Amino acid sequence: MIRILVLHGPNLNMLGVREQEVYGSQTLAEINARLMKLADAEGVALEAKHSNSEGELVSWIQEARGRFDAIVMNPAAYTHTSIALRDAVLSVALPTVEVHLSNVYQREDFRRQSYLAGVVIGQISGFGALSYHLGVLAAIDYVHGAQSKKA
Ligand code: DQA
Repeated sequence: MIRILVLHGPNLNMLGVREQEVYGSQTLAEINARLMKLADAEGVALEAKHSNSEGELVSWIQEARGRFDAIVMNPAAYTHTSIALRDAVLSVALPTVEVHLSNVYQREDFRRQSYLAGVVIGQISGFGALSYHLGVLAAIDYVHGAQSKKA
C-alpha cells in the first residue's frame, strides 16, 4: 500500500482564524479529515503532522525514509527561508510535492522565492484546501508511475 506523509509548517495550525481572506475558513483538522477520506477512497495510507519548528520538520523528513513513499508538504513561511528543509528533502530522495493554499506568485515579492521548488517533483499553489487534495493525488500518481517503471 502506498504511504503518504503530509507535513504542515508554521502557523498552519492557525487556519480558520488566520487571514481567512487569504487562506480560507477551513481549519487544519478539517483539511486533515478530508485528506484521510481521500486516502481511504484511493486505498493509500496517509499520516498528517504539523509543526511550527523547522528542526522538527527536518527530523520528520529524515524519519520518513523507508517509512513513506512520498511527502506532500506545505512548508509555509519556511518555503522562503529554509535551506535546511531543502537539504532534508534532497537527503531522503523521497518524491515530494510542495503545496500552498494561496497563490504565492500573486502576493509579496518575497513569497515568489521557494527554496524547495528546485528539489520537489512539483508545486501546487492557489487552490485553497484543494491544493492539498491535488497534491496528494499528484504524489499517488507519481508513486504509481515509479512503481510500474520498476516492474
Ligand atoms: C503558505 C504561503 C506562505 O507564503 C505563508 O508563509 C504561509 C502559507 C500557503 O499555504 O499559502 O504560511 O504556504
